[in-house]
Amino acid sequence: MRYERRAVTILVALVGALACTPADQPPPSTDPTAAAIADGRAGAPGIGDPAFPLDGNGGYDVAHYAIAIDYTPSDKQLRGVTTITAAATQDLSSFDLDLTGYNVSGVTVDDEAATFSRKGQELTIRPARPIGDDDRFTVRVSYAGTPQPVVNSANLGTYGFIPTRDGAFVTAEPDGAKTWFPSNDHPADKATFDFAITVPAGLTVLANGELTGRPTTAGGRTTWRWHERQPMATYLATATLGTFDLREGRTAAGIPLLAAVDPAFKSSLDKLYTVSGEVTDYWSTVFGPYPFGSTGGVVDDFSTGYALENQTKPMYGGFAPDEAIIAHELAHQWFGDSLTIRRWKDIWLNEGFATYAEWLWSEHKGKSTAEAIFKRNHARPADDPIWAYPPGQASPDDLFNQSVYTRGAMTLHALRKAVGDETFFKLLRAWTAEHRHGNVTTEQFTALAEKMSGKDLGPLFDAWLFQPRRPV
Ligand code: TRP
Ligand code: ZN
Repeated sequence: MRYERRAVTILVALVGALACTPADQPPPSTDPTAAAIADGRAGAPGIGDPAFPLDGNGGYDVAHYAIAIDYTPSDKQLRGVTTITAAATQDLSSFDLDLTGYNVSGVTVDDEAATFSRKGQELTIRPARPIGDDDRFTVRVSYAGTPQPVVNSANLGTYGFIPTRDGAFVTAEPDGAKTWFPSNDHPADKATFDFAITVPAGLTVLANGELTGRPTTAGGRTTWRWHERQPMATYLATATLGTFDLREGRTAAGIPLLAAVDPAFKSSLDKLYTVSGEVTDYWSTVFGPYPFGSTGGVVDDFSTGYALENQTKPMYGGFAPDEAIIAHELAHQWFGDSLTIRRWKDIWLNEGFATYAEWLWSEHKGKSTAEAIFKRNHARPADDPIWAYPPGQASPDDLFNQSVYTRGAMTLHALRKAVGDETFFKLLRAWTAEHRHGNVTTEQFTALAEKMSGKDLGPLFDAWLFQPRRPV
Protein backbone atom coordinates (compact mmCIF):
# COMPACT_ATOMS: atom_id res chain seq x y z
CA MET A 1 0.00 0.00 0.00
CA ARG A 2 1.06 3.56 -0.45
CA TYR A 3 4.64 4.43 0.37
CA GLU A 4 6.25 7.81 0.12
CA ARG A 5 8.10 8.56 -3.07
CA ARG A 6 11.79 9.07 -3.07
CA ALA A 7 14.49 9.28 -5.65
CA VAL A 8 17.31 6.87 -4.98
CA THR A 9 19.10 8.02 -8.08
CA ILE A 10 22.55 7.02 -6.94
CA LEU A 11 21.45 3.47 -6.26
CA VAL A 12 19.70 3.22 -9.60
CA ALA A 13 22.90 4.27 -11.29
CA LEU A 14 24.95 1.83 -9.22
CA VAL A 15 22.76 -1.15 -9.90
CA GLY A 16 22.57 -0.19 -13.54
CA ALA A 17 26.33 -0.01 -13.81
CA LEU A 18 26.70 -3.42 -12.22
CA ALA A 19 23.86 -5.09 -14.12
CA CYS A 20 25.03 -8.18 -15.95
CA THR A 21 23.37 -9.82 -18.89
CA PRO A 22 22.86 -13.54 -18.27
CA ALA A 23 22.85 -15.81 -21.32
CA ASP A 24 19.08 -16.30 -21.30
CA GLN A 25 18.34 -12.59 -21.14
CA PRO A 26 17.94 -10.05 -23.95
CA PRO A 27 21.16 -8.69 -25.56
CA PRO A 28 22.79 -5.60 -23.99
CA SER A 29 21.09 -3.10 -26.30
CA THR A 30 17.70 -4.01 -24.84
CA ASP A 31 18.88 -4.58 -21.25
CA PRO A 32 15.86 -3.33 -19.32
CA THR A 33 17.80 -1.73 -16.49
CA ALA A 34 20.14 0.17 -18.79
CA ALA A 35 17.31 1.28 -21.03
CA ALA A 36 15.20 2.42 -18.10
CA ILE A 37 18.05 4.43 -16.63
CA ALA A 38 18.58 6.01 -20.00
CA ASP A 39 15.03 7.37 -19.95
CA GLY A 40 15.01 8.08 -16.20
CA ARG A 41 11.72 6.37 -15.44
CA ALA A 42 12.98 3.24 -13.74
CA GLY A 43 11.49 2.34 -10.37
CA ALA A 44 14.16 2.48 -7.66
CA PRO A 45 15.73 -0.86 -6.61
CA GLY A 46 15.06 -0.09 -2.93
CA ILE A 47 12.05 1.33 -1.07
CA GLY A 48 14.16 3.89 0.78
CA ASP A 49 15.11 2.26 4.08
CA PRO A 50 18.72 3.39 4.58
CA ALA A 51 19.51 0.28 6.66
CA PHE A 52 18.39 -2.08 3.87
CA PRO A 53 19.02 -0.14 0.66
CA LEU A 54 17.93 -2.87 -1.76
CA ASP A 55 14.93 -4.22 0.17
CA GLY A 56 11.58 -3.36 -1.31
CA ASN A 57 11.47 -1.24 -4.44
CA GLY A 58 10.35 2.18 -5.56
CA GLY A 59 7.78 3.41 -8.06
CA TYR A 60 4.76 1.32 -7.17
CA ASP A 61 2.62 0.17 -4.33
CA VAL A 62 1.39 -3.44 -4.08
CA ALA A 63 -2.30 -3.98 -3.31
CA HIS A 64 -2.49 -7.77 -3.52
CA TYR A 65 -0.38 -10.91 -3.89
CA ALA A 66 -1.90 -14.10 -5.29
CA ILE A 67 0.68 -16.82 -4.63
CA ALA A 68 0.19 -20.20 -6.33
CA ILE A 69 2.83 -22.72 -5.35
CA ASP A 70 3.33 -26.42 -5.92
CA TYR A 71 5.83 -27.96 -3.49
CA THR A 72 7.18 -31.49 -3.12
CA PRO A 73 9.09 -32.13 0.13
CA SER A 74 10.89 -35.28 -1.13
CA ASP A 75 12.85 -33.43 -3.81
CA LYS A 76 12.41 -29.87 -2.47
CA GLN A 77 11.06 -28.65 -5.80
CA LEU A 78 8.98 -25.49 -5.72
CA ARG A 79 7.06 -24.26 -8.74
CA GLY A 80 5.38 -20.92 -8.33
CA VAL A 81 3.24 -18.41 -10.15
CA THR A 82 2.86 -15.18 -8.21
CA THR A 83 0.44 -12.55 -9.47
CA ILE A 84 0.85 -9.06 -8.06
CA THR A 85 -1.68 -6.27 -8.39
CA ALA A 86 -0.05 -2.88 -7.88
CA ALA A 87 -0.48 0.84 -8.52
CA ALA A 88 2.29 2.95 -10.02
CA THR A 89 3.46 5.94 -7.97
CA GLN A 90 5.40 7.40 -10.91
CA ASP A 91 5.69 6.79 -14.66
CA LEU A 92 7.47 3.45 -15.04
CA SER A 93 9.48 2.22 -18.00
CA SER A 94 10.77 -0.56 -15.72
CA PHE A 95 10.52 -1.62 -12.10
CA ASP A 96 12.02 -4.19 -9.74
CA LEU A 97 10.72 -7.04 -7.62
CA ASP A 98 12.81 -8.81 -4.98
CA LEU A 99 13.50 -12.53 -5.51
CA THR A 100 16.44 -14.77 -4.56
CA GLY A 101 17.11 -18.16 -6.14
CA TYR A 102 14.87 -19.98 -8.67
CA ASN A 103 14.84 -19.96 -12.42
CA VAL A 104 12.35 -17.38 -13.71
CA SER A 105 10.65 -18.73 -16.83
CA GLY A 106 8.38 -15.86 -17.70
CA VAL A 107 6.98 -12.50 -16.66
CA THR A 108 3.87 -10.76 -17.94
CA VAL A 109 2.58 -7.29 -17.21
CA ASP A 110 -1.14 -6.86 -17.84
CA ASP A 111 -1.05 -10.24 -19.63
CA GLU A 112 1.61 -9.18 -22.13
CA ALA A 113 5.07 -10.78 -22.11
CA ALA A 114 7.63 -8.50 -20.46
CA THR A 115 11.43 -8.63 -20.67
CA PHE A 116 13.34 -9.10 -17.46
CA SER A 117 16.83 -9.42 -16.04
CA ARG A 118 18.23 -10.49 -12.70
CA LYS A 119 21.00 -9.11 -10.54
CA GLY A 120 21.38 -10.22 -6.92
CA GLN A 121 17.98 -9.89 -5.28
CA GLU A 122 16.59 -7.57 -7.96
CA LEU A 123 14.31 -8.92 -10.68
CA THR A 124 14.08 -6.00 -13.09
CA ILE A 125 11.00 -6.02 -15.31
CA ARG A 126 10.45 -3.96 -18.44
CA PRO A 127 6.83 -4.09 -19.54
CA ALA A 128 5.98 -4.15 -23.24
CA ARG A 129 4.37 -0.74 -22.82
CA PRO A 130 5.32 1.80 -20.14
CA ILE A 131 3.09 2.21 -17.09
CA GLY A 132 1.75 5.67 -16.25
CA ASP A 133 1.74 7.28 -12.82
CA ASP A 134 -1.27 6.06 -10.79
CA ASP A 135 -2.02 3.24 -13.25
CA ARG A 136 -3.07 -0.06 -11.76
CA PHE A 137 -1.21 -3.01 -13.25
CA THR A 138 -0.82 -6.75 -12.82
CA VAL A 139 2.52 -8.60 -12.88
CA ARG A 140 2.72 -12.37 -13.17
CA VAL A 141 6.00 -14.16 -12.48
CA SER A 142 6.54 -17.88 -13.14
CA TYR A 143 9.49 -19.47 -11.36
CA ALA A 144 10.81 -22.85 -10.21
CA GLY A 145 13.67 -24.38 -8.28
CA THR A 146 14.89 -25.41 -4.85
CA PRO A 147 14.18 -22.84 -2.12
CA GLN A 148 17.36 -21.25 -0.72
CA PRO A 149 16.55 -19.83 2.72
CA VAL A 150 18.95 -17.37 4.29
CA VAL A 151 21.25 -19.54 6.43
CA ASN A 152 23.47 -18.67 9.38
CA SER A 153 22.86 -14.96 9.13
CA ALA A 154 24.78 -13.20 11.91
CA ASN A 155 22.16 -13.04 14.66
CA LEU A 156 19.08 -14.42 12.91
CA GLY A 157 20.08 -17.98 12.08
CA THR A 158 18.07 -19.49 9.24
CA TYR A 159 14.97 -17.79 7.84
CA GLY A 160 12.76 -17.71 4.76
CA PHE A 161 11.23 -20.79 3.11
CA ILE A 162 13.03 -23.54 5.04
CA PRO A 163 12.63 -27.10 3.71
CA THR A 164 12.08 -29.60 6.57
CA ARG A 165 11.94 -33.40 6.80
CA ASP A 166 8.19 -33.50 6.09
CA GLY A 167 7.54 -30.14 4.45
CA ALA A 168 8.62 -26.58 5.06
CA PHE A 169 8.79 -24.07 7.91
CA VAL A 170 8.19 -20.58 6.59
CA THR A 171 9.30 -17.64 8.79
CA ALA A 172 10.85 -14.72 6.95
CA GLU A 173 11.65 -11.78 9.22
CA PRO A 174 13.21 -9.43 8.29
CA ASP A 175 13.66 -9.89 4.55
CA GLY A 176 13.18 -13.56 3.63
CA ALA A 177 9.87 -13.37 1.75
CA LYS A 178 11.97 -13.07 -1.42
CA THR A 179 13.13 -16.68 -0.81
CA TRP A 180 9.68 -17.94 -1.80
CA PHE A 181 7.78 -15.32 -3.78
CA PRO A 182 8.71 -12.27 -5.88
CA SER A 183 7.70 -9.26 -3.83
CA ASN A 184 8.19 -5.71 -2.71
CA ASP A 185 9.99 -7.21 0.25
CA HIS A 186 9.84 -4.48 2.87
CA PRO A 187 7.26 -3.89 5.63
CA ALA A 188 6.52 -0.37 4.35
CA ASP A 189 4.44 -1.87 1.52
CA LYS A 190 1.64 -3.99 3.01
CA ALA A 191 -0.87 -5.86 0.87
CA THR A 192 -3.61 -8.47 1.07
CA PHE A 193 -2.82 -12.07 0.13
CA ASP A 194 -4.30 -15.18 -1.47
CA PHE A 195 -2.47 -18.49 -1.28
CA ALA A 196 -3.12 -21.64 -3.34
CA ILE A 197 -0.53 -24.16 -2.16
CA THR A 198 -0.43 -27.65 -3.67
CA VAL A 199 1.31 -30.51 -1.84
CA PRO A 200 1.26 -34.31 -1.82
CA ALA A 201 -2.12 -35.51 -0.49
CA GLY A 202 -1.99 -36.12 3.27
CA LEU A 203 0.05 -33.02 4.07
CA THR A 204 -1.41 -29.87 5.62
CA VAL A 205 -0.62 -26.29 4.53
CA LEU A 206 -0.91 -23.49 7.08
CA ALA A 207 -0.91 -20.03 5.51
CA ASN A 208 -2.20 -16.72 6.86
CA GLY A 209 -5.82 -15.81 7.28
CA GLU A 210 -8.66 -18.21 6.74
CA LEU A 211 -9.36 -21.16 4.41
CA THR A 212 -11.60 -20.17 1.52
CA GLY A 213 -13.02 -23.69 1.22
CA ARG A 214 -12.17 -27.31 1.83
CA PRO A 215 -8.84 -28.42 0.36
CA THR A 216 -9.29 -30.10 -3.05
CA THR A 217 -7.43 -33.25 -4.13
CA ALA A 218 -6.72 -34.44 -7.67
CA GLY A 219 -4.12 -36.94 -8.89
CA GLY A 220 -2.68 -37.44 -5.42
CA ARG A 221 -2.07 -33.76 -4.79
CA THR A 222 -4.04 -31.45 -2.54
CA THR A 223 -4.47 -27.70 -2.93
CA TRP A 224 -5.03 -25.55 0.17
CA ARG A 225 -6.47 -22.09 -0.38
CA TRP A 226 -6.02 -19.42 2.26
CA HIS A 227 -7.00 -15.76 2.19
CA GLU A 228 -5.59 -12.94 4.34
CA ARG A 229 -8.03 -10.09 3.97
CA GLN A 230 -6.18 -7.49 6.04
CA PRO A 231 -3.01 -5.79 4.80
CA MET A 232 0.10 -7.76 5.72
CA ALA A 233 3.87 -7.18 5.59
CA THR A 234 5.73 -9.62 3.34
CA TYR A 235 7.85 -10.98 6.22
CA LEU A 236 4.69 -12.15 8.00
CA ALA A 237 3.50 -14.30 5.11
CA THR A 238 3.74 -18.04 5.69
CA ALA A 239 2.85 -21.35 4.11
CA THR A 240 4.29 -23.77 6.64
CA LEU A 241 3.48 -27.28 5.48
CA GLY A 242 3.90 -30.88 6.52
CA THR A 243 2.18 -33.39 8.79
CA PHE A 244 0.10 -31.64 11.47
CA ASP A 245 -2.53 -32.37 14.11
CA LEU A 246 -5.16 -29.65 14.19
CA ARG A 247 -7.64 -28.30 16.70
CA GLU A 248 -10.18 -25.75 15.55
CA GLY A 249 -12.85 -23.69 17.24
CA ARG A 250 -13.37 -20.23 18.68
CA THR A 251 -11.98 -18.26 21.59
CA ALA A 252 -14.38 -17.59 24.49
CA ALA A 253 -15.02 -14.16 22.94
CA GLY A 254 -15.81 -15.77 19.57
CA ILE A 255 -12.67 -15.26 17.47
CA PRO A 256 -11.98 -18.20 15.10
CA LEU A 257 -9.03 -20.16 16.51
CA LEU A 258 -6.74 -22.76 14.93
CA ALA A 259 -3.90 -24.57 16.65
CA ALA A 260 -1.64 -26.97 14.74
CA VAL A 261 1.26 -29.09 15.94
CA ASP A 262 3.68 -31.48 14.33
CA PRO A 263 2.89 -35.00 15.66
CA ALA A 264 6.13 -34.81 17.69
CA PHE A 265 4.36 -32.12 19.77
CA LYS A 266 0.97 -33.85 20.01
CA SER A 267 0.86 -33.41 23.77
CA SER A 268 1.17 -29.60 23.39
CA LEU A 269 -1.85 -29.17 21.10
CA ASP A 270 -4.48 -28.57 23.77
CA LYS A 271 -2.34 -26.14 25.74
CA LEU A 272 -1.41 -24.20 22.59
CA TYR A 273 -5.10 -24.02 21.65
CA THR A 274 -6.34 -22.98 25.10
CA VAL A 275 -3.62 -20.46 25.95
CA SER A 276 -3.70 -18.86 22.47
CA GLY A 277 -7.45 -18.33 22.84
CA GLU A 278 -7.16 -16.94 26.35
CA VAL A 279 -4.30 -14.59 25.45
CA THR A 280 -6.03 -13.32 22.28
CA ASP A 281 -9.15 -12.46 24.29
CA TYR A 282 -7.19 -10.80 27.10
CA TRP A 283 -5.09 -8.66 24.76
CA SER A 284 -8.31 -7.60 23.01
CA THR A 285 -9.37 -5.98 26.30
CA VAL A 286 -5.96 -4.38 26.94
CA PHE A 287 -4.80 -3.34 23.43
CA GLY A 288 -8.14 -2.89 21.63
CA PRO A 289 -10.22 -5.08 19.30
CA TYR A 290 -8.40 -8.04 17.73
CA PRO A 291 -7.25 -6.80 14.30
CA PHE A 292 -7.66 -9.99 12.22
CA GLY A 293 -10.19 -12.61 11.15
CA SER A 294 -8.68 -15.47 13.14
CA THR A 295 -6.00 -16.35 15.68
CA GLY A 296 -3.96 -19.40 16.64
CA GLY A 297 -0.49 -20.90 16.53
CA VAL A 298 1.64 -23.55 14.86
CA VAL A 299 4.37 -25.73 16.39
CA ASP A 300 6.65 -27.50 13.90
CA ASP A 301 9.41 -29.94 14.74
CA PHE A 302 12.03 -27.90 12.92
CA SER A 303 14.30 -26.44 15.62
CA THR A 304 14.94 -22.83 14.90
CA GLY A 305 14.85 -22.00 18.59
CA TYR A 306 12.69 -18.99 17.82
CA ALA A 307 9.09 -18.06 17.21
CA LEU A 308 7.69 -15.62 14.68
CA GLU A 309 4.48 -13.62 14.86
CA ASN A 310 3.16 -14.60 11.41
CA GLN A 311 -0.14 -12.78 10.92
CA THR A 312 -3.03 -14.82 12.42
CA LYS A 313 -0.68 -17.81 12.96
CA PRO A 314 2.44 -17.39 15.07
CA MET A 315 4.98 -20.15 14.35
CA TYR A 316 7.01 -21.88 17.06
CA GLY A 317 10.13 -23.62 15.77
CA GLY A 318 10.81 -26.88 17.50
CA PHE A 319 9.66 -26.26 21.06
CA ALA A 320 6.46 -26.35 23.11
CA PRO A 321 5.75 -22.66 23.75
CA ASP A 322 5.11 -21.46 27.31
CA GLU A 323 2.54 -18.79 28.22
CA ALA A 324 5.09 -15.97 28.08
CA ILE A 325 6.10 -16.58 24.48
CA ILE A 326 2.49 -17.12 23.38
CA ALA A 327 1.66 -13.80 25.08
CA HIS A 328 4.61 -12.24 23.19
CA GLU A 329 3.74 -13.54 19.72
CA LEU A 330 0.04 -12.71 20.06
CA ALA A 331 0.83 -9.18 21.31
CA HIS A 332 2.70 -8.80 18.00
CA GLN A 333 -0.65 -9.23 16.20
CA TRP A 334 -1.28 -5.64 17.32
CA PHE A 335 2.33 -4.41 17.52
CA GLY A 336 4.11 -5.45 14.33
CA ASP A 337 1.32 -7.04 12.32
CA SER A 338 -1.61 -4.59 12.47
CA LEU A 339 0.72 -1.62 13.19
CA THR A 340 3.78 -2.29 11.05
CA ILE A 341 7.05 -0.38 11.15
CA ARG A 342 7.99 1.76 8.16
CA ARG A 343 11.75 1.49 8.85
CA TRP A 344 13.65 -1.38 10.44
CA LYS A 345 15.41 0.96 12.87
CA ASP A 346 12.06 1.32 14.68
CA ILE A 347 11.89 -2.42 15.46
CA TRP A 348 11.53 -1.64 19.20
CA LEU A 349 7.91 -0.68 18.34
CA ASN A 350 7.48 -4.44 17.72
CA GLU A 351 9.84 -6.15 20.15
CA GLY A 352 9.74 -3.66 23.02
CA PHE A 353 5.94 -3.77 23.03
CA ALA A 354 5.75 -7.58 22.71
CA THR A 355 8.27 -7.97 25.54
CA TYR A 356 6.33 -5.51 27.70
CA ALA A 357 3.26 -7.62 26.95
CA GLU A 358 5.08 -10.59 28.55
CA TRP A 359 5.52 -8.48 31.69
CA LEU A 360 1.85 -7.47 31.60
CA TRP A 361 0.86 -11.14 31.23
CA SER A 362 2.98 -12.04 34.26
CA GLU A 363 1.33 -9.24 36.24
CA HIS A 364 -2.14 -10.35 35.04
CA LYS A 365 -1.40 -13.90 36.22
CA GLY A 366 -0.38 -12.70 39.69
CA LYS A 367 3.30 -13.50 39.15
CA SER A 368 6.02 -10.83 39.04
CA THR A 369 4.68 -7.35 38.38
CA ALA A 370 5.97 -5.29 35.46
CA GLU A 371 7.49 -2.98 38.09
CA ALA A 372 9.44 -5.86 39.65
CA ILE A 373 10.70 -7.05 36.24
CA PHE A 374 11.65 -3.48 35.32
CA LYS A 375 13.60 -3.08 38.58
CA ARG A 376 15.41 -6.36 38.11
CA ASN A 377 16.55 -5.24 34.66
CA HIS A 378 17.44 -1.73 35.76
CA ALA A 379 19.78 -3.33 38.29
CA ARG A 380 21.89 -4.88 35.53
CA PRO A 381 25.52 -3.77 35.86
CA ALA A 382 26.62 -0.57 34.13
CA ASP A 383 28.67 -2.57 31.63
CA ASP A 384 25.73 -4.75 30.53
CA PRO A 385 25.59 -4.48 26.70
CA ILE A 386 21.95 -3.30 26.72
CA TRP A 387 23.06 0.08 28.09
CA ALA A 388 25.48 0.66 25.21
CA TYR A 389 22.87 -0.14 22.54
CA PRO A 390 20.17 2.53 22.08
CA PRO A 391 17.02 0.56 21.18
CA GLY A 392 15.32 3.43 19.34
CA GLN A 393 17.90 3.29 16.57
CA ALA A 394 18.38 -0.43 15.85
CA SER A 395 21.54 -1.20 13.93
CA PRO A 396 20.97 -3.04 10.64
CA ASP A 397 23.43 -5.85 11.42
CA ASP A 398 21.98 -6.39 14.90
CA LEU A 399 18.27 -5.55 14.59
CA PHE A 400 17.17 -8.04 17.22
CA ASN A 401 19.66 -7.10 19.92
CA GLN A 402 18.44 -7.83 23.44
CA SER A 403 18.28 -4.10 24.11
CA VAL A 404 15.53 -3.77 21.49
CA TYR A 405 13.49 -6.26 23.51
CA THR A 406 14.35 -5.52 27.14
CA ARG A 407 15.31 -1.85 27.06
CA GLY A 408 12.41 -1.31 24.64
CA ALA A 409 10.05 -2.80 27.23
CA MET A 410 11.69 -0.76 29.98
CA THR A 411 11.02 2.37 27.92
CA LEU A 412 7.31 1.57 28.01
CA HIS A 413 7.39 0.94 31.75
CA ALA A 414 9.21 4.25 32.35
CA LEU A 415 6.53 5.91 30.22
CA ARG A 416 3.76 4.19 32.19
CA LYS A 417 5.21 5.51 35.45
CA ALA A 418 5.57 9.02 34.02
CA VAL A 419 2.00 9.32 32.68
CA GLY A 420 0.09 7.03 35.05
CA ASP A 421 -1.79 3.80 34.37
CA GLU A 422 -4.96 5.40 33.08
CA THR A 423 -3.27 7.51 30.40
CA PHE A 424 -0.80 4.73 29.55
CA PHE A 425 -3.44 2.11 28.75
CA LYS A 426 -5.61 4.67 26.93
CA LEU A 427 -2.54 5.53 24.89
CA LEU A 428 -1.98 1.90 23.91
CA ARG A 429 -5.56 1.62 22.68
CA ALA A 430 -5.44 4.97 20.86
CA TRP A 431 -2.17 3.91 19.21
CA THR A 432 -3.61 0.63 17.91
CA ALA A 433 -6.86 2.30 16.83
CA GLU A 434 -5.26 5.22 14.98
CA HIS A 435 -2.87 3.08 12.97
CA ARG A 436 -4.83 -0.15 12.64
CA HIS A 437 -3.60 -2.07 9.56
CA GLY A 438 -1.13 0.74 8.78
CA ASN A 439 2.53 1.71 9.06
CA VAL A 440 4.12 3.53 11.98
CA THR A 441 7.26 5.31 13.18
CA THR A 442 8.78 6.02 16.60
CA GLU A 443 8.12 9.74 16.12
CA GLN A 444 4.39 9.05 15.70
CA PHE A 445 4.33 7.13 18.97
CA THR A 446 6.24 9.69 21.01
CA ALA A 447 4.07 12.50 19.58
CA LEU A 448 0.86 10.66 20.54
CA ALA A 449 2.22 9.98 24.05
CA GLU A 450 2.97 13.68 24.51
CA LYS A 451 -0.40 14.73 23.14
CA MET A 452 -2.37 12.34 25.35
CA SER A 453 -0.39 13.01 28.52
CA GLY A 454 0.07 16.74 27.96
CA LYS A 455 3.66 16.23 29.13
CA ASP A 456 7.04 16.96 27.60
CA LEU A 457 8.36 13.42 27.29
CA GLY A 458 11.35 14.36 25.15
CA PRO A 459 13.97 13.75 27.88
CA LEU A 460 12.40 10.41 28.87
CA PHE A 461 12.33 9.01 25.34
CA ASP A 462 15.78 10.41 24.59
CA ALA A 463 17.34 8.75 27.64
CA TRP A 464 15.60 5.41 27.12
CA LEU A 465 15.65 5.09 23.35
CA PHE A 466 18.59 7.05 22.04
CA GLN A 467 21.44 7.29 24.57
CA PRO A 468 24.26 4.71 24.76
CA ARG A 469 24.13 4.58 28.57
CA ARG A 470 21.87 3.49 31.41
CA PRO A 471 19.08 5.98 32.12
CA VAL A 472 18.87 7.14 35.73
N1 TRP B 1 10.17 -11.43 15.77
C1 TRP B 1 10.64 -12.64 16.40
C2 TRP B 1 10.17 -12.53 17.86
O1 TRP B 1 10.79 -11.93 18.68
C3 TRP B 1 12.13 -12.88 16.30
C4 TRP B 1 12.67 -13.08 14.91
C5 TRP B 1 13.48 -12.25 14.23
C6 TRP B 1 12.46 -14.16 14.03
N2 TRP B 1 13.76 -12.76 13.01
C7 TRP B 1 13.17 -13.91 12.87
C8 TRP B 1 11.73 -15.32 14.11
C9 TRP B 1 13.16 -14.79 11.81
C10 TRP B 1 11.71 -16.16 13.05
C11 TRP B 1 12.41 -15.91 11.90
O2 TRP B 1 9.09 -12.93 18.16
ZN1 ZN C 1 8.99 -10.60 19.12
